[in-house]
Amino acid sequence: MFARLGLQSLAITFVLGNALALNLDTNSQDSIKSVAKSIAETIITTYNTAQEDDPIPGLFGDSYYFWEAGAVWGGLTDYAHLTGDNQYNDLIASAVLHQIGDYNAFMPQNQTKTLGNDDQSFWGLMAMTAAETGLVMPQKDIGDWADLAANVFDIQALRWDETTCGGGLKWQIYSFNNGYNYKNSMSTGNFFLLAARLAHFTGNTTYSEWAEKALKWTQDIGLVSENFHVFDGTDDRKNCSDINKIQWTLNAATFTEGAAVMYNLTNGDNKWKDAVTGFVNASAVFQDKSSILSEVACEKNGKCIVDQRAFKGIAIRSFARAAQAAPFTSDSIQNMIKASATGAATNCEGEDGKVKCGFGWTGAGEGDDIEGGELGETNNALQAVQALLWPQAKALASMNGTLTTSPTGSPAASPTGSQTGTGTSQGTDAPGAAGTLVTPHTLVLLAAVLAMMCL
Ligand SMILES: *[C@@H]1O[C@H](CO)[C@@H](O)[C@H](O)[C@H]1NC(C)=O
Ligand SMILES: *[C@@H]1O[C@H](CO)[C@@H](O)[C@H](O)[C@H]1NC(C)=O
Ligand SMILES: *[C@@H]1O[C@H](CO)[C@@H](O)[C@H](O)[C@H]1NC(C)=O
Ligand SMILES: *[C@@H]1O[C@H](CO)[C@@H](O)[C@H](O)[C@H]1NC(C)=O
Ligand SMILES: *[C@@H]1O[C@H](CO)[C@@H](O)[C@H](O)[C@H]1NC(C)=O
Ligand SMILES: *[C@@H]1O[C@H](CO)[C@@H](O)[C@H](O)[C@H]1NC(C)=O
Repeated sequence: MFARLGLQSLAITFVLGNALALNLDTNSQDSIKSVAKSIAETIITTYNTAQEDDPIPGLFGDSYYFWEAGAVWGGLTDYAHLTGDNQYNDLIASAVLHQIGDYNAFMPQNQTKTLGNDDQSFWGLMAMTAAETGLVMPQKDIGDWADLAANVFDIQALRWDETTCGGGLKWQIYSFNNGYNYKNSMSTGNFFLLAARLAHFTGNTTYSEWAEKALKWTQDIGLVSENFHVFDGTDDRKNCSDINKIQWTLNAATFTEGAAVMYNLTNGDNKWKDAVTGFVNASAVFQDKSSILSEVACEKNGKCIVDQRAFKGIAIRSFARAAQAAPFTSDSIQNMIKASATGAATNCEGEDGKVKCGFGWTGAGEGDDIEGGELGETNNALQAVQALLWPQAKALASMNGTLTTSPTGSPAASPTGSQTGTGTSQGTDAPGAAGTLVTPHTLVLLAAVLAMMCL
């Protein structure tokens, strides 16, 4: 089904070593779902293989930072919501809960050496996704998924730092880590998005007030420009007077989704409408003439590192969610998604559980070889393909059941109604075993270098 010649001839072609691109028909729900299924299965295979080498539930091995795993689990949770394929849900829930860490806020001690606010909030956003899509919470003693997301929010709100720059979140949590003096858009943007989604889910105005405050700060300090371009970060030892202007798809999309959720929550408030319009307009910087998304800062020259190679998928997922929350952007965003999903599928080959995907989607650039096949590239392709399903998806849930109805009118089930489950296979944490991952300041250094080359 995934290859142009059908499965039987595919098997034969594989023997001959002549693999085929995935065959995606963006107008067919069945085609989209079956392509998504075979890519999702590949991510699970990658996970299971990593677990054989180093059995730490929730993580994908030493090649990938903690944050990326959180983002991938969030994307797989959306996968179940969008496709109805729930076969991985128990695995997802127990894998994620193994990483619940201190304060039930996704601060596992093993990650202390590299844990930034943004790393932590990718897991907070995963918990938020679980709440919105009704993933069953298998554990009885830690509250529901929204409580876990709120724990992350609460602890980060305490870290909001007005000692310099008039506010903002530092990139790093611990002062001994590189990047502690950097206030970045990813940390503040994820916090903004988490606050907006918690506000939408719970109706609690504490969260919407924080969402407003977080966006206002990034605008005041210049991390979000007048034209809604989102820049990477700024040094708080200089009171945030110098902005590192490199632009990443992920930062831009995170703010776009946050603004769209606030737009939806306020029932179309003009201030938020302007912000959403501005962010969507500014996202043109990442699109080629066919509207295909690309990581412009490093993709063409083949210099994107592992972290950066994972951005596009998480970004396209946020753009797709933004289009749901702010339907007036849907034409423009779906156009980008269609072009990107087609490009992504064309640059994948293989079959169920063994799909390899390249990084580039545009068909022009060094990043386009299928040599990649890593977690980031695979998740990018999954997110691009499944993003096509949002317009037909069930509405996301809120604490009071379904807040809104989707265009097709199918309401979501109550997210917190049936808490059945059998508990997880939680292991015992052994603290202090981190340090196998690359140091995070690579990103700052590289960003500084690339800033000169970008725009
Ligand atoms: C630091 O920046 C903030 C925000 O722009 C500003 O309010 C504050 O006055 C600045 N502090 C100093 C010492 O320049
Ligand atoms: C949920 O219900 C409570 C109690 O009726 C109400 O105060 C709150 O505003 C509702 N939240 C949303 C998001 O509708
Ligand atoms: C609203 O959220 C804040 C922050 O998590 C929390 O402290 C407060 O108790 C919540 N209010 C209600 C009415 O649930
Ligand atoms: C809020 O989101 C829902 C679900 O996508 C949508 O039906 C509704 O029109 C949105 N509200 C606004 C003001 O656009
Ligand atoms: C769209 O973005 C471009 C480039 O940043 C800017 O010049 C233009 O004013 C923006 N238009 C709107 C409507 O925001
Ligand atoms: C921490 O590391 C130990 C040793 O590798 C492992 O057994 C444990 O599962 C890890 N815990 C978490 C939460 O990652």
